[in-house]
Amino acid sequence: MVKAICPGSFDPVTFGHIDIITRASKMFDVVLVAVMVNPEKKPSFTLEERIDFLKRTIPDRSNIQVVSFNGLLADFAKETNSDIIVKGLRAVSDFEYEFQMALANRKLNTDVETVFLPTKADNMFLSSSMVKQIAKFGGDISQFVPSEILYDITKRFYKGEV
Ligand code: PNS
Repeated sequence: MVKAICPGSFDPVTFGHIDIITRASKMFDVVLVAVMVNPEKKPSFTLEERIDFLKRTIPDRSNIQVVSFNGLLADFAKETNSDIIVKGLRAVSDFEYEFQMALANRKLNTDVETVFLPTKADNMFLSSSMVKQIAKFGGDISQFVPSEILYDITKRFYKGEV
């Protein structure tokens, strides 16, 4: 049985994340969607909100579980006996950072492999930060995030009339 982790801040989840999670769930027996702490970012949504958004929007498949972890991804992989870390790669610009993380995670836990999935062309430019910026200025984010959480995001950021 191959167990994979899809880690991220998911602040908030976008169609880009959902695509990677869905594809991972077809490749591996179990997929743990792990809401983690990125020390380089200050989240806009609480951990509970980010988990709730994921639960409301990711496909209802029996092999996907949403969990959270406050610590190193390598330790989470060890604790959960996971084999694979799945990361989506958008452009070459993602590669250097992700490559560094993959090597560090492998140093910390020799049993875990990182697998990169190229993002869908439609999601090449899509990021949670971009969604938040568009929402702050009252732009339309419906092409980037599922309809179930559209109102929650708009309400949080847009201070004009909704
Ligand atoms: O969605 P993000 O913000 O790009 O996800 C990055 C995340 C949360 C996966 C990364 O910051 C992470 O793994 N955080 C846990 C702490 C850790 O293990 N850091 C990497 C050490 S090499």
